[in-house]
Amino acid sequence: MSDINNISVEKGYVEAFVSPFTDLLEDIEIIKKRKNALILAHYYQNWAIQQAADFIGDSLALAQKAVSIDADIIIMCGVHFMGETVKILNMNKKVLVPDLNAGCSLAQSCKEEDLKKFKSEHPDYKIISYVNTTAEVKAISDIVVTSGNAVKIVNSLPKEEKILFGPDRNLGRFINEKTGRKMLLWDGACHVHERFKIDDILALKERHPDALILSHPECKKSIVDISDFTGSTAEMIKFVSNSSAESFIIVTEEGIMNELRRNFSDKIFIPAPSEFLSSHDYFCNECEYMRLNTLEKLYLTLKYELPEITVEPELAAKAKKSIDTMLSLS
Ligand code: 13P
Ligand code: SF4
Repeated sequence: MSDINNISVEKGYVEAFVSPFTDLLEDIEIIKKRKNALILAHYYQNWAIQQAADFIGDSLALAQKAVSIDADIIIMCGVHFMGETVKILNMNKKVLVPDLNAGCSLAQSCKEEDLKKFKSEHPDYKIISYVNTTAEVKAISDIVVTSGNAVKIVNSLPKEEKILFGPDRNLGRFINEKTGRKMLLWDGACHVHERFKIDDILALKERHPDALILSHPECKKSIVDISDFTGSTAEMIKFVSNSSAESFIIVTEEGIMNELRRNFSDKIFIPAPSEFLSSHDYFCNECEYMRLNTLEKLYLTLKYELPEITVEPELAAKAKKSIDTMLSLS
């Protein structure tokens, strides 16, 4: 529990009074300049946060951006592991996230002790970890990858290399198919991408036969197999910019629609079917962790410089090695 001047971060985000007359976007802009702060946001953030951000990208672009920031404060609007990655690359800076509760089902699916056990039983395996992992897991991995560079990085390794890939079994299977490797796969998945159902996508395709299907490699095989293109969020956006097609069925988190609609107003984007999960209060194509961040929480984070991401220096140095290897191979 931390209580400073009537504010609380007990719940993992700042709770404080915000006047209903506050123009959040305008004030964020003013405070940002005054404090020399920079706001990074993932494509899966809501429209309002993307409006406030200085840089929007996929996991790879965000990690690449994080190595050359000269601001004093960095606010990472995304999930916890993204904040941790930015901190590891900027140990001398203050790194903040609007809500520390923004986790990730993939990161949760790979526990440090389980990976350590695998390593001790299989010392001859190289460990390649998706960036969607904790700092502890990155620290005992050989290389970190994102969905945007995984195929390239795996292809750069000797063919005979024994590899464990984790924690996303869907991305791992996709890389195996693309590279012809037989990497062992950790049994984790992104619950948002696993919620998409092939029958729903096929029904959508029947209604929009000219639309191309674009999917994220975190989707199940049945969906990847019927897709016209599968790639990271940035790769999907690039595909659209190089395509003469007019409409696209987008099978990934709904936040990407902001970037697509902003950049390609002459094209039609159909989000993968979503139903409202009234028991949870969100649409099933929304990552509830990503959506924990709101413009008001971002404003309070900037104002009070809380909550801060911290990583032990020794742990950060170990995790940085595997991130640096990724950046050098990207
Ligand atoms: P990319 O940013 O690599 O497209 O991955 C998407 C994702 O699930 C981030 O959590
Ligand atoms: Fe994790 Fe999936 Fe959410 Fe990305 S979309 S942060 S992989 S739970």
